[in-house]
Amino acid sequence: MKLSLALAALSAAVRVHGHGYLTIPSSRTRLGSESGVDTCPECTILEPVSSWPNLTVAPVGRSGPCGYNARVSVDYNTPAGNSKWGVTPVATYAPGQVVDVQWCVDHNGDHGGMFSYRICQDQALVNKFMTPGYVPTDAEKQAAEDCFTAGTLPCTDVTGQSCGYNPDCSPGQACWRNDWFTCNAFQADSRRACEGVDNAALGSCFTTIAGGYTVTKRIRIPDYSSAHTLLSFKWNSFQTGQIYLSCADIAISGGSPTTLSTSTKSATTATGTGTGTGTGTGTSTSAAACTPAATVAVTFNELVATSYGQTVKIAGSIAQLGSWNTANAPALSAAAYTTASPLWSYTVSLPAGTTFQYKFVNVASSGAATWESDPNRSFTVPTGCDTKVTVSSSWR
Ligand SMILES: *[C@@H]1O[C@H](CO)[C@@H](O)[C@H](O)[C@H]1NC(C)=O
Ligand SMILES: *[C@@H]1O[C@H](CO)[C@@H](O)[C@H](O)[C@H]1NC(C)=O
Repeated sequence: MKLSLALAALSAAVRVHGHGYLTIPSSRTRLGSESGVDTCPECTILEPVSSWPNLTVAPVGRSGPCGYNARVSVDYNTPAGNSKWGVTPVATYAPGQVVDVQWCVDHNGDHGGMFSYRICQDQALVNKFMTPGYVPTDAEKQAAEDCFTAGTLPCTDVTGQSCGYNPDCSPGQACWRNDWFTCNAFQADSRRACEGVDNAALGSCFTTIAGGYTVTKRIRIPDYSSAHTLLSFKWNSFQTGQIYLSCADIAISGGSPTTLSTSTKSATTATGTGTGTGTGTGTSTSAAACTPAATVAVTFNELVATSYGQTVKIAGSIAQLGSWNTANAPALSAAAYTTASPLWSYTVSLPAGTTFQYKFVNVASSGAATWESDPNRSFTVPTGCDTKVTVSSSWR
């Protein structure tokens, strides 16, 4: 407790500017910056809190797992209007895939400590952070934060990766670090100037204060499928009582996470699949033992405000979705529809690996059909062990 108070006091006293945010895959914070909504993407900070050495003791408060930027009053835990962020995934990965991820630390705000990447596998909980117009309560934010903590992706899951600064290390282990990421150690006699991490040059990523350095790592995507979920980034500062949180909308689909051997796993890891920005390759490196699902219950959750008498259907390229014929397309259920959350839902059992295109259609009581705008949506039913998957989207 004394430590946390001291850190909070230090933070307030020296007014250190910062700091850092997730850039690859594109976080909501990065998209907020690029769209002009957020004039200081590196300033999304949970403070003052106890951030070290207990990485989880601080209540997440309004920051939630996606961050709240008090400087510009932007809550990244709720999708923005106008599809600026949060409505569709920015990257698609395969279960078990090893991918590059990157965050950006400001030249003037490297406070050391430890950072982690997390995925919460409670889809119903994560859905609360992907519902346009819905602001999760502090209790929901804390529940999600706890779920993300439980879903911390161990650095050591990536063979050969150097794992300084990572929360899957314990105090006393060599990988439990507290010095700066981009600069020489706090108490260094010489070479105290900052230098880029990974040989990245100053300005290799965007910050508004003093220019940023990229910090690149690799993570292994867990054996989990979701058409829309979140990757959360958390940095616990050592030097200041601050925690930085941001998250990116991603999809995890495809792959066959059952058959690959350990040697395949190493080979794939060595070559480093995935760029962090592209689409999933379908490769998988997991060796988890499980029974692949032959069919998967696919639930489509579509947020669309409708008027009395209107029905929402899902029409697509496969027979189960009416082969593009609205007369044969299944109707979604409005059983969970509310004004605050206009949810239409439909679950269909489909063979694993099926790829198809589809759109939602609003059918008036007169029979007149209004289709979503182009392009067609597409989906591949995962070939993993999960017997169900949820696809969340909003009318476009
Ligand atoms: C961190 O704090 C939490 C909440 O008080 C506690 O449950 C946990 O045991 C602490 N962890 C460590 C390593 O002390
Ligand atoms: C969507 O699919 C339909 C049916 O295959 C096709 O006619 C249409 O051109 C597609 N739209 C786009 C934008 O590709």
